[in-house]
Formats: sequence, C-alpha cells, structure tokens
Amino acid sequence: MKVLITAGPTVEAIDPVRYLTNRSSGKMGYALAAAAAKRGHSVLLISGPTALAIPDGVDFLPVESAAEMYQAVSSQIARHDIAIFAAAVADYTPAHVADQKLKKNGEEMTLTLKRTKDILGSARGVMNFSGTLVGFAAETENLEEYARDKCLRKNCDLVIANDVSQKEIGFDSSENEVSLVYPDRTETLPRDSKEHLAFHLIEVIESL
Ligand code: PMT
Repeated sequence: MKVLITAGPTVEAIDPVRYLTNRSSGKMGYALAAAAAKRGHSVLLISGPTALAIPDGVDFLPVESAAEMYQAVSSQIARHDIAIFAAAVADYTPAHVADQKLKKNGEEMTLTLKRTKDILGSARGVMNFSGTLVGFAAETENLEEYARDKCLRKNCDLVIANDVSQKEIGFDSSENEVSLVYPDRTETLPRDSKEHLAFHLIEVIESL
C-alpha cells in the first residue's frame, strides 16, 4: 500500500533568528516510516526538522512550518491508501513575521498568534481523503476522552493516544506506551520501544 506519514515538530518563525516550536524528536513517526517500508509498503515521510536519519527505502519531503506541512500533505495525500499523522504541529503561529531581528524593548513583550490550519481535521472534508486515516493525540490529562473526541470529530479510523505527562514515554524518549482509540472502543498496549511498537501499529493499521 501507499502510506503517507507526518513526523517531527513544526517551526514557526517569529523573526529571522527566533521561532516557536512543539516538542517532538520525530522518533515515533520515523519508526513508523521505517516499519512500514520494511513491511513492503511505499512510504512518503513528510517531516519537520529533526536530528534523525531518513529511514532506508522511504521517500522524504522536508518541511518547516505548519503551513508548509499542510501544503505538502494536501498535494500528496490523494495518491495514498493510508495517512498517519504523528507530527506535533503548531496550533498557532505568529500573526506577523518580522523581516529584521526584533530588538529588546521594555520588560515584557506581547506576541500575537493566529491559528494554523488543522491538517488532520482537513483530511476528510477539504482534502477529500477516503483512505485509512490515523491521528495521534498527545495529552496530559483525560487521554481517552480527548482522543475519542478527536477521532470522531476528525473522522479518523484510529487515534493513537500518548500520555505525555510521563517523562519516560512520549516526547523525545525511546519508549512509548499508547492506547488505540477507535470510534467505539479502546485498547491499551504495553510499554515498548518505539521501533517494536511501530511494527505492531503498522500491522494494526494494515488490518483496518
Ligand atoms: O516525536 P517523538 O519525540 O517520538 O514523540 C512522539 C509524539 C508524542 C510527538 C507523537 O507520538 C504524537 O503524539 N504526535 C502528535 C502530537 C500532537 O501534536 O498531538 P495533538 O493532540 O496536538 O494533535 C492531534 C493530531 O492532529 C495529531 O495527529 C497531529 O499530527 C494533528 N495535527 C495537529 C495540529 C494541526 N494543526 N494539524 C494536525 O494535523
């Protein structure tokens, strides 16, 4: 099958030297891309900046901002059977990007932010994607409730939910412990390395 995967953080410029970003090493998304390629799928990895090597046998499209990731996904998603959104996309971006480095001025500074486009939330309606749609949810509380709400509102087949309040799992770490939140049921998986977990997740997603 043809599998599109988003991974890593997005980077939202404030001025030429500063930016806003989200926590994500890219490990989970890259492990999914590597596992999908090893299982014989054709994989496109669309990634924000990370320190990771591109997995073998994977097509790679680098992006920086949430707007660039939206553009890349919307131009590519139609030719895929499966889309997995593991990226930590900024929900807000600076309303104006300064052309020159901003100078220190006073004790406080106010930055006006505007909403970015919801890529996962646009997949079904705006992008007309009819394949298998898998989102992630990174939450610090009410994990299952928030993940199910995302799953239903964004018309996903599955949302993979991480509890990012625990330091040993989720962001940056090599291990993860996730719940599979379907529209009508939830299954919690044991803690495992992101590599092992990725193989299992790809098998689960194939079966959908
Ligand atoms: O990269 P690692 O260090 O390995 O960590 C992995 C991870 C914790 C980043 C990853 O497993 C994860 O949970 N990614 C989603 C993080 C996140 O931003 O979740 P969210 O609840 O804010 O977003 C929900 C879903 O909507 C996600 O599928 C996200 O990719 C998508 N989204 C969010 C905002 C936006 N503007 N567009 C989107 O598509």
